[in-house]
Amino acid sequence: MDKPYPPVYYSDYLQLDTLLSSQKLKSAEAGHPAHDEMLFIVIHQAYELWFKQILHEMGSVLDMFEKETVDEKNIGTAVWRLQRVVEIQKILIDQLRVLETMTPLDFLDFRDYLFPASGFQSVQFRLVEILFGLRAEQRLLYNQFAYHTRVSPEHQALLKRTEERTSLFDVVERWLERTPFLDLPDFRFWQFYRDAVNAMLLGDRDVVRSNATLTDLEKQVQLEELDATEVRFAAVFEADKHEELIQSGKRRLSHTATQAALFISLYRDQPILHMPHRLLSTLVDIDELFTTWRYRHALMVHRMIGTKIGTGGSSGFHYLKSTAENHRVWTDLIDLSTYLIPRAALPALRPDVEAQLGFRYGS
Ligand code: HEM
Repeated sequence: MDKPYPPVYYSDYLQLDTLLSSQKLKSAEAGHPAHDEMLFIVIHQAYELWFKQILHEMGSVLDMFEKETVDEKNIGTAVWRLQRVVEIQKILIDQLRVLETMTPLDFLDFRDYLFPASGFQSVQFRLVEILFGLRAEQRLLYNQFAYHTRVSPEHQALLKRTEERTSLFDVVERWLERTPFLDLPDFRFWQFYRDAVNAMLLGDRDVVRSNATLTDLEKQVQLEELDATEVRFAAVFEADKHEELIQSGKRRLSHTATQAALFISLYRDQPILHMPHRLLSTLVDIDELFTTWRYRHALMVHRMIGTKIGTGGSSGFHYLKSTAENHRVWTDLIDLSTYLIPRAALPALRPDVEAQLGFRYGS
């Protein structure tokens, strides 16, 4: 039987001629070839390929979630693809170890040839950050300049366009807001939950008051801490308190979406909530792994260049360490653990509510 397609040659399919002739050592061009510059280039190129794959996965999940109604079948596919991002991120973190086989002195053999290029100009890295949900106003200034001033005008335009489209954060927030169980008639879940929380806090206060090993001052401190917890809980129940937190920059996720995410976390044992819960956990995993990469990269940079400024002109280690703390996207989901109460204290779901807990969000 004739094959419908012409035979494919491995090297052509992968365009290896182009790929493998794309490592041009600046040190060699300058007449002082530095052995480790090859590793430096290959590592960066490998990163860029993985960034491309991450964008491919995130872009497809965005397409699924941008629709008015998210097809239930797509939730599993989205989780699967985001899990792939998680696995890639683990490789990205590990890859730094290969780069660290280059010593700081080896790096100095070619570092001067790189100015003012820097990983800071990686447009794909910025696209990943933006698609995931990092907001422009959240970014730390780099030498008093916005991050995109360091890339070419074409790249600036691309980044701007991407910032204007919706991110994974936006679409997941909207998906959460559309969860049907939040507005079922006569379903006073939040009142039940509030009662359960109050009972738990009352119990905690009794434990503190009757603890003979604590001094009066220690008791007072712990009771004040419980008062503060009660205030934090109030924001879960009252939309205006939550709005105040949003206005003061302490929260980002809307009140309705936060309640939905909390509900999913609390009742994740319900079979129908398994996938939504996996989705939320995977977003948290991705966020944490970005933070881990940022911090790990910062440590590597410290080791490589000490406290010198970067080739791109930033304060180097200190700038990078701060991005690890500030460039997080899903802290609202991570903070949800504050509001969890033990399974045993959870209000039982009414059977009809349980029956209606389909995840046809947006229907
Ligand atoms: C010897 C190895 C490396 C050194 C010394 C180094 C150093 C730095 C420094 C100092 C910065 C801050 C900007 C600047 O002033 O230049 C930076 C940013 C960055 N680097 Fe590296 N880097 C190295 C390897 C890598 C690798 C392998 C990647 C992978 C793509 C990478 C990606 C980035 C990214 C994405 C940023 C921007 C981070 C942000 O703004 O949040 N770097 N790097």
